[in-house]
Amino acid sequence: MNDLEQARPSPVEFGPYLDGPHRLQVIGLWQSVFGYETAHNRPSLAIDRKLAVQDGLFFVAASRDRVVGTIMAGYDGHRGWLYSVAVDSSHRMSGVGSGLVRHAERALVARGCVKINLQIRAGNEPVTEFYRALGYCVDERISMGKVVPENAGEA
Ligand SMILES: CC(C)(COP(=O)(O)OP(=O)(O)OC[C@H]1O[C@@H](n2cnc3c(N)ncnc32)[C@H](O)[C@@H]1OP(=O)(O)O)[C@@H](O)C(=O)NCCC(=O)NCCS
Repeated sequence: MNDLEQARPSPVEFGPYLDGPHRLQVIGLWQSVFGYETAHNRPSLAIDRKLAVQDGLFFVAASRDRVVGTIMAGYDGHRGWLYSVAVDSSHRMSGVGSGLVRHAERALVARGCVKINLQIRAGNEPVTEFYRALGYCVDERISMGKVVPENAGEA
């Protein structure tokens, strides 16, 4: 490898999550980016449940073989959703997050999705600017949720 090749950053590619090579890396990334305190958000549980529905809407960004970002999407026939948008701190501010969102959007649009929603945790408001640049705006809604203890390991 010459000096020029060494200086050039490795390209980041977007593709489907593959359980063999990606699981431990994704768990490590999510723990470092989100830190999880509740059983129902346990990364291994989230991955298992997502793979079980076989919807092909779980993607990673990889630089060579290293996972540097994730996005999970969902489509229920009415709305599309984005979850687990995360980029490793070493690869931020270089378009990886935007690329992940656009990659997931294309998959949702191909399924006929007419609106895509996402939630931002209280305290993470600055990230609205990231989504605004991608065409999202704040919906005047109250978000509610309910954990199902018998499926979430919290029973
Ligand atoms: C949010 C996140 C995914 C963005 O990833 P990224 O690869 O750095 O994003 P990009 O490089 O594609 O940034 C695109 C634009 O959004 C802006 N942006 C990125 N992260 C931002 C943040 N946290 N706050 C405000 N603006 C942000 C950038 O300035 C950039 O604007 P520009 O094109 O005018 O320079 C990444 O910061 C991250 O993993 N954060 C922690 C997890 C998180 O908050 N996820 C979202 C949960 S809802």
